[in-house]
Amino acid sequence: MAGSHYGRIFKVATWGESHGVAVGAVVDGCPAGLNIDEEKIQDWLDRRRPGQGKYSTARNEADKVRILSGVFEGKTEGTPISLLVENSDARHKDYDKIKDIYRPGHADFGFDMKYGFRDYRGGGRSSGRETIGRVAAGAIAGEFLKELGIGIYAFSRAIGPVAIEDGEIDLEEARDNPFRLPNKEKASMASDFADRMIEEGDSIGGIAECRISGVPAGIGEPVFDKLDAMLSAGIMSIGAVKGVEIGEGFNAAALRGSENNDPFRTEGGRIGKGSNHSGGILGGMSDGGEIVIRAAFKPTPSIRKRQKSVMRDGEEVDISIEGRHDPLIVPRALVVVEAMAALTIADFMLINMSARLNRIKDFYREF
Ligand SMILES: Cc1cc2nc3c(=O)[nH]c(=O)nc-3n(C[C@H](O)[C@H](O)[C@H](O)COP(=O)(O)O)c2cc1C
Repeated sequence: MAGSHYGRIFKVATWGESHGVAVGAVVDGCPAGLNIDEEKIQDWLDRRRPGQGKYSTARNEADKVRILSGVFEGKTEGTPISLLVENSDARHKDYDKIKDIYRPGHADFGFDMKYGFRDYRGGGRSSGRETIGRVAAGAIAGEFLKELGIGIYAFSRAIGPVAIEDGEIDLEEARDNPFRLPNKEKASMASDFADRMIEEGDSIGGIAECRISGVPAGIGEPVFDKLDAMLSAGIMSIGAVKGVEIGEGFNAAALRGSENNDPFRTEGGRIGKGSNHSGGILGGMSDGGEIVIRAAFKPTPSIRKRQKSVMRDGEEVDISIEGRHDPLIVPRALVVVEAMAALTIADFMLINMSARLNRIKDFYREF
């Protein structure tokens, strides 16, 4: 299928359908010599694994990753890295009832219009399971970035209408509740709201915030391939993401220039900024500040609550979706956001190496 590749130097292709034999990714362009093993990739995958409580799908799979190529004696070989995760708990029967019905809010209608048929078993390529390949590849990009002193961390900024204000963030707390909200009181409010929605057979959305630290200034290309444009494209390509903002984002429209500009200053001989309304990106290039991205996730489309829809032949029907679905996507998708951020930044770090002649000459002088 076209459109399953991402990146220009650090490249990834994801493959596999939700209820097919397996899902996975091929990473090409990762430099040789990076320490990587299945365990490190598994740590990332375990954070998106289903079956972890009532706020995620009951589909219960180990999602154990196997590295098929490109790694030798614990190090990347510079050759394509093939990653595979088997689908062990795929129940096609759950989908037989809806195979000819278009689920409101899902990709079914578009697939039929585009290809003339669709893999209705679990949503095929439009399933949340497609993100396994992204996360496995993102884990390798994340390890590469760690070598360069770059860290990536995402948490929930809002669950449904329960949003965290700037002064309320306690990142330690985000590790302790199933919503990954960085505030205890707000997590308990989110729990009340989510329980009510689940009882009603409904679903909820939310906002993920991703912070990237340690990116040197000047990463990103200044015209079409702006860092903010490419990060937004990568994160917007995750299923159910309907909005992306960087730094002040939509708020900036209501601010004055004097409020939104970040004053430059010198600290210990280094140029920095006194605030970070830019979210770490100016002119399409990193400005040395922490990169801050937020992604708005819509409520999960597959819901038990009765809705109106149509069959493939146009007959109008009522639909109630019984399969196993995430009542909210954000907590499981945080690691997917981190993965897309890692893949994008890793690619740009490599692209940036060709920006200056003197650095290219320095590099080749070493041979
Ligand atoms: C990690 C993850 C899990 C998801 N789980 C479900 C799910 O259980 N049920 C569902 O209907 N959609 C789920 N989705 C969302 C659909 O994939 C998505 O809404 C659908 O493909 C339509 O695309 P769009 O919302 O981007 O327009 C999930 C998405 C992600 C990223």
